[in-house]
Amino acid sequence: MNALRALAAAALFGCSLATPSSAQTSPRSAAELMDAVMWNREPIGGPFKLTDHTGQLRTDADFRGKLMLIYFGFTYCPDICPTDLQAIGLAMDQLGANAKDVLPLFITLDPERDTVEHLAQYVSLFHPRLIGLTGSASAVAQAADAYRVYYNRVTFDAAKSDYTVDHSAFIYLVDRDGKYLGFFPPGTSAEKIAQMIEPHLRGKDER
Ligand code: NI
Repeated sequence: MNALRALAAAALFGCSLATPSSAQTSPRSAAELMDAVMWNREPIGGPFKLTDHTGQLRTDADFRGKLMLIYFGFTYCPDICPTDLQAIGLAMDQLGANAKDVLPLFITLDPERDTVEHLAQYVSLFHPRLIGLTGSASAVAQAADAYRVYYNRVTFDAAKSDYTVDHSAFIYLVDRDGKYLGFFPPGTSAEKIAQMIEPHLRGKDER
């Protein structure tokens, strides 16, 4: 089983090496990456260097001192991303004045279509403080790998180059020092997100 998984991962990695200019698939399988996050088997989080929806270059270090709510997805996602981003936006509203200590980040897994301009329009639909982040395929891959995000470009119609992006959809919570605290599964309600962030805002981080 493990040997097979390793082989499958090696095969995928081989594919991505063949097309280094556009990473379209995470180098590891969905099962392996979901396992790493759900059972906390590997360290989650790490440095990233991306461009925000106003065109500014941002790194993870810029966000120290705030809790980060990080979500990976893509703007053409038909339902999961908008649902979760809406919950994140509503959770921010529910936190009231405390929301100033929380930064919600949306990192695209589809940098080819999610340009700075496109992200600017999209993030404004969900919350005025939501920050959209994009970058080169390799910069996006680095961020996704750090958070053990699975993504895979699936082509509908090769002739029209129409595609979607399958992806894992955890909402990651990171503390003021950039340390990973945990995740909310896809579909977590705004109420639950707000309730679970509140103790961390009061400085009662248990780790
Ligand atoms: Ni999505």
